Amino acid sequence: MGNLSVVGLQWGDEGKGKLVDYLAGQFDAVARFNGGSNAGHTVVIGEKKHTFHLVPSGALKGKELLIGAGVALDPVILREELSLLPERIRGKLLIDGRCSLVSPFDKELDAVLEQMRGSSAIGTTRRGIGPAYAMRALRLALRASDLLNNPDPEALSQFYSRLGIDPTGFRAWIEESKQVVAGLVGDVGSRIVDIGQGGGSVLFEASQGTLLDLLHGSYPFVTSTHTVVSYIPAGLGIPPSEAGEPLGVMKCYTTRVGSGPFPTEIKDPTSDKIRSVGNEYGATTGRPRRVGWLDLVALRYAIRLNGVKNIAVSKLDVLSEVKEFRACVSYRHMGSETGDFQRSLGHLHEVEPVYESPFSMHGAKYDAELPAQAKKLVEYLEAALGVRVSLVSHGEERSRTIEL
Ligand code: IMP
Ligand code: MG
Repeated sequence: MGNLSVVGLQWGDEGKGKLVDYLAGQFDAVARFNGGSNAGHTVVIGEKKHTFHLVPSGALKGKELLIGAGVALDPVILREELSLLPERIRGKLLIDGRCSLVSPFDKELDAVLEQMRGSSAIGTTRRGIGPAYAMRALRLALRASDLLNNPDPEALSQFYSRLGIDPTGFRAWIEESKQVVAGLVGDVGSRIVDIGQGGGSVLFEASQGTLLDLLHGSYPFVTSTHTVVSYIPAGLGIPPSEAGEPLGVMKCYTTRVGSGPFPTEIKDPTSDKIRSVGNEYGATTGRPRRVGWLDLVALRYAIRLNGVKNIAVSKLDVLSEVKEFRACVSYRHMGSETGDFQRSLGHLHEVEPVYESPFSMHGAKYDAELPAQAKKLVEYLEAALGVRVSLVSHGEERSRTIEL
């Protein structure tokens, strides 16, 4: 088996964590290539729920765990996360020395910037991700490898001071971070190439979703890194030829956390119903997620950007409790209709969704076999999106998965 990547086709929270855990058994390692602790990947095994922010979701399958150069690494969160997991998991972890670090001062800056934006705040997770990537672009960032060489925080302290952020505790933070990453820092790109040369394979786990991509998403209401599969080689330091096949993940409705345009957002009580049945609350921040109908216009864009041929569809069980099912087939704007998401990006907050309600998923029951209503949905999606649906998820638990 070759390498495979799991990529979100919406605004994040598509169910990537569950899918990565489900698939990880077939791979030698699971690698994160983007984002940071803004991610919240949930894996449910039996009664137990695990939320991963930095550790790749393959952890519970005993796989090698790789954190690539493209990740913004918060050592404090990593320490917390590791402390909740069995001790042996630390021994599986390799962190690329080129990872930019997220400091407590970046988190403070995140909050300050959000406050400054006032009513146009992005609604970030306040995990300091934007500032950490900005520090990288400013060529000021501390990287994981720097921790090994006793860095002098003087210049950085001055930088934060000038922004009105008190840098007291910088040295203590460096000392603490050093301990967290001790013995874990190396070259993730080389490790992935070595695994491939030894006949093994790696599963790449994207965080966030395509529509939150810094370049290709609904800018400025996006995250501060790249969430598309074309970033896998850069974010890991591997040749594009090693990036593997992408598997797109989508929910059978849409959610979004934070601000920004959301054409298919539901403005009636159905959104509360879906939120409560689907437990649509941010895994990182606990914020209620905004809920919307399926958006085929946005999905076609995400599928094209990522070159996806196979998709996994999640949360089918949620629609069993909802009378209606709607799919947005085009956008209406200034009297004309379009199916072009990219051209709509500049005025996404003004478009009006044009819906189709081809069937209802209400009352569908899931066993080992797909019920007739779900088969209809699969056929509908395959025709509308030009992809193959190869996997369906109908519940949080690992076993609630059907391969097609
Ligand atoms: P940031 O990534 O914390 O800077 O937040 C920027 C935007 O991305 C906000 O709208 C967040 O809610 C959103 N976001 C960041 N990470 C995730 C995620 O893992 N799932 C869903 N939304 C996310
Ligand atoms: Mg999430």
